[in-house]
Amino acid sequence: MGRAPREPIGPQGKRSIGNTTRGHGTHGALHSNAYETEWERRGEERRGEGAGAAGGGGGMTSGPKSGVGGVAAARAAASGPRTVLITGVSRGLGRALALELARRGHAVVGCSRSAEPIRSLEAEIASPSRHFLTVADVRSDSSMAELAKAVVERKQIPDIIVNNAGTINRNNKTWNVPAEEFDTVVDTNIKGTANVLRHFVPLMLVKKHGMIINLSSGWGRSSAAEVAPYCASKWAIEGLTRSLAKELPPGLAAIALSPGVVNTDMLTSCFGSSAALYQSTEQWAPKAATMILSLSLEDNGASLTV
Ligand SMILES: NC(=O)c1ccc[n+]([C@@H]2O[C@H](COP(=O)([O-])OP(=O)(O)OC[C@H]3O[C@@H](n4cnc5c(N)ncnc54)[C@H](OP(=O)(O)O)[C@@H]3O)[C@@H](O)[C@H]2O)c1
Repeated sequence: MGRAPREPIGPQGKRSIGNTTRGHGTHGALHSNAYETEWERRGEERRGEGAGAAGGGGGMTSGPKSGVGGVAAARAAASGPRTVLITGVSRGLGRALALELARRGHAVVGCSRSAEPIRSLEAEIASPSRHFLTVADVRSDSSMAELAKAVVERKQIPDIIVNNAGTINRNNKTWNVPAEEFDTVVDTNIKGTANVLRHFVPLMLVKKHGMIINLSSGWGRSSAAEVAPYCASKWAIEGLTRSLAKELPPGLAAIALSPGVVNTDMLTSCFGSSAALYQSTEQWAPKAATMILSLSLEDNGASLTV
């Protein structure tokens, strides 16, 4: 690889909670115990105004109305074991997060493109029979449709979606990135996320609750040389997530989450051997799991960092 691009550090001006960094959510104050009340008040306001916008705190879009039942459903779901869909579980952050969540008693629905790493994860994960780990490609709309159909049949509709599957271009000046490689980054990171949302958000709407976590990056909030396709895709994820947040009804929330900097195949691709200087996936996963499980509806629309 060429020279390592600058570190994808978190953005400035964020509030830190423990090891995590939190931005300002669409719904203002974070981790207030009064969020249900706030949602109820906003629900009443919306009904009074005849407006449909929900998750975006009064944006211009018209979202579905599910009222306070969604908040109650979300609260009930947050109190017990959750079913978590994680895309990209064959290695890196997705695999480590799957293992950690399973260890804590949550059920994982996981996918990635090849069978062997899925089998290896099945062999290592706690309580394997509770999970649904399968081969699926986020770039394919029909593959995501089949996955959604399978989780309905298995009664494993996720409470939380972690859109983690991602790829990065080989370090290269923007004008030298081959067209197919640029396409792969866009197809995986942006359109892959959209494919998941297209088939899984409707299931969450029926359940009236759900937390959608789209993996962003420090490079979704800053930039670096030689990774323009990747930066563009993660800036897109930030925008997509904020728009989605404005469409969701009470009970559902969407968050853009930067994982920080973690030693994975992806980091090695852009940092070379200095990737080894960063935290391991095993060090990262407990922090990430705690943060993901603690997200609340008032984080809707926020850009957060593990
Ligand atoms: N590591 C970091 O420091 C860092 C920093 C910022 C953001 N992130 C983000 O965190 C996420 C995970 O990154 P990572 O570092 O763990 O990357 P990684 O080690 O390269 O792992 C990527 C995962 O995504 C899966 N994947 C790729 N294309 C897929 C597809 N089309 N369908 C299904 N699964 C697919 C891969 O599985 P298969 O290849 O087997 O399908 C693999 O499990 C990415 O969204 C990345 O942008 C990472």
